[in-house]
Amino acid sequence: MLNIDLNAHVRGESIFINDIPAPVNTVYLTVFYSPEAHGRIKQIITKEAEKIPGVKGIFTAKDIPGRNQVGGIIFDEELLAEGEVNYIGQPVAVVAAVSYSIARNARDKIKIEIEKLSVIIDPREAYEAGKLIISPKVFSCGDTGSAWKDCDVIVDGKAETGSQEHIYMETQSAVAYPVENGGIRILSSTQAPTSVQRAAAEILGIPMNKVEVDVPRIGGGFGGKEDQANSWAALAALVSFKLKCPAKLVLPRNEDITVTGKRHPYTSDFKIGLNKEGKILAYEVVFYQNAGAAADLSPAILDRTLFHAANCYFIPNLKATGLCCRTNVPPNTAFRGFGGPQAMFVIEAAIYKAAEVMGIDPLVIQQKNLLKEGDQFHFGQKAINCTARNCWQSLDSGFNLKAVTNSIKEFNIANPLLKKGMAVMPVCFGISFTNTFMNQASVLVHVYSDGSIGISSAAVEMGQGINSKLRQIASKTLSVDIERLKVESSNTTRVANTSPTAASSSTDLNGKALIISCNILLDRILKSVKADLKLKENSFLELRDEQVLSNGVPTGLTWEEIIRAAFFKRVNLSAQAQYATPGIYFDQETSKGNAFSYHVYGAAIIEATLDCITGIYKIDSVKVVHDFGKSFSLQTDLGQAEGGIVQGLGWMTIEDILYDMSGKIITDSLSNYKIPDIHFVPDEMKIIPLEDSNNPSGIFNSKAIGEPPLMYGIGAFFAIENAMKAFRPGMNTILTAPLTPERVLLALYSKI
Ligand code: MTE
Ligand code: HPA
Ligand code: MOS
Repeated sequence: MLNIDLNAHVRGESIFINDIPAPVNTVYLTVFYSPEAHGRIKQIITKEAEKIPGVKGIFTAKDIPGRNQVGGIIFDEELLAEGEVNYIGQPVAVVAAVSYSIARNARDKIKIEIEKLSVIIDPREAYEAGKLIISPKVFSCGDTGSAWKDCDVIVDGKAETGSQEHIYMETQSAVAYPVENGGIRILSSTQAPTSVQRAAAEILGIPMNKVEVDVPRIGGGFGGKEDQANSWAALAALVSFKLKCPAKLVLPRNEDITVTGKRHPYTSDFKIGLNKEGKILAYEVVFYQNAGAAADLSPAILDRTLFHAANCYFIPNLKATGLCCRTNVPPNTAFRGFGGPQAMFVIEAAIYKAAEVMGIDPLVIQQKNLLKEGDQFHFGQKAINCTARNCWQSLDSGFNLKAVTNSIKEFNIANPLLKKGMAVMPVCFGISFTNTFMNQASVLVHVYSDGSIGISSAAVEMGQGINSKLRQIASKTLSVDIERLKVESSNTTRVANTSPTAASSSTDLNGKALIISCNILLDRILKSVKADLKLKENSFLELRDEQVLSNGVPTGLTWEEIIRAAFFKRVNLSAQAQYATPGIYFDQETSKGNAFSYHVYGAAIIEATLDCITGIYKIDSVKVVHDFGKSFSLQTDLGQAEGGIVQGLGWMTIEDILYDMSGKIITDSLSNYKIPDIHFVPDEMKIIPLEDSNNPSGIFNSKAIGEPPLMYGIGAFFAIENAMKAFRPGMNTILTAPLTPERVLLALYSKI
């Protein structure tokens, strides 16, 4: 089944916010940002800027009619900075003018006086200075303290992962329109229409029912628009509310990169203990999360880090501590994997280092410790339908790990300056929002009198293919032609109180709600048919391929006929339903519970070739066995897997976000921040679905796909490191990502 958006996307016909023609009286917005990473605002001088012809207004915190607050989890984030500024790029004022260029000229004339305060960009330094956003969090099981004495090998170290910019194709965008009676209508490029609605209502000091948020589609989010679309929409709403005209704000790319939050960089200390055979007995880890200047989603992201501290391994004694450190960079935020990848890098680093000390292949430790059915995760949940070992075995039988290792050895003997390396990356990722209450969704289905159908759901289409999947689900449940189904924009007046489209859960949550509402409709419609046909009470009516069958025999009635008949009989042809994932809970006090509906497993072999003269490498291949459950949309799911893998490869290798000591971003454009392009993509990407997998908790036995494959990319780091060691065996082990060509070259030729 192909994605319904393919043709329109390829032809450039899909409509994003910036493509929508603006009414003539629209004002265009540009934001004046803090030029300092930390300080006290003494004065904001806008006089000169206001005089520029075409400027319609300049607004600061004092102009906000409601509450100057956009913090989602903790109320620590002002929409427009009032007393203090806490990062370079923090919004201070918004300029409205008849064109963007006038608005930008005016912005250049704004002056700000700031009394500088000390700047911290390093999370360890923030921790030392007592700048924690929440108290330290600990997830643990067993007793590491007493387990160390049973270990034959104990290895400790430090592992670090860098930030990552989302580079969604559509930058942060919003348009707000004033509507009757003091209300507002917002088009926003957001993964979370309800969050935007709530934020705008707070800022304007009006109830949520006066704010309508509509999201036709978004040009990628990757987590970057789960929380961080709020501010831009709220700023557009503020200006529109004040000036009583439409207000449009679309961030230029360099601004988007400079001022929005990214994947959290982490620096972590680990200690791992094993017995002689390579069984992991104990693991302790402290994660220093660089949260940036405000909480944003950092505490929830830190939770997922703690959940995934052991990746897919069974570790009987584990203690994971999470520190949410406040620094003076833009508030970091959700990014595909939501803190999980950062945790998985550290346990893989620990295993890699332990293998080195023990003089064995890391694969031996990895395989030996894989989770098996019924094993308990450190947060108390049991691994059910656990396919960690099946994936590893299929990977080995499909791609022959020994043969790969041997051919690399041979290559390395034959080539003095080119070296190859490989790594296996097994993954286990929990599906559900880690905040239990968020695991809900609702849909509204209308059947029109001609038999066509409109679906409104809580989900946002951002390229991941949710609209196509919802059509498939409804088509299958109702047994009507897929062409009858249209998925509407996500709109807060049609579907209320939505969770963000995130956590890879939108198909599961919205799909289940959709199945419920389709069944309600079908039931209602068939009941009315049954009454008409004067059939016996015990006769069984069903719809199959748009035909009505009675006890399996065609009645001659079609979908269109029964819909028309039902309409004239005044049957309700609309249905709404909500779904809430059953059986999940988590106790924040004890850090125990069945947090996830199920887990997604898989394993990948990553091979790389390194040019030891230049430090430049190529990721040759990524071969995967992935547990899709029973995919009902394999093309879409493979696309998600490939996209996720490439994003993971980029994070581990070439994507390097740099700030200088003053807190200013150095990598502020696509010329100095390099993301994988088509040439970087491995020549060979083979993703094989695990056979005979099943998932009763998913839609039609499928599994969520959005995030888990990203983590296969972690293997690239260790594959490159292996190639480096083939060139320089005594080299100091690097456990700092990204492993950029610069870092590779320095390590290959460093003195020690
Ligand atoms: N795929 C595309 N094309 N664009 C995106 O923005 N976001 C990813 C993933 N795949 C994203 C994507 C992230 S971070 C998540 S959580 C899931 O899609 C969300 O959608 P889903 O719940 O439908 O999987
Ligand atoms: N994943 C993604 N987004 C979230 C989550 C999660 O687990 N929890 C809250 N927002
Ligand atoms: Mo995805 S990081 O849960 O939006």
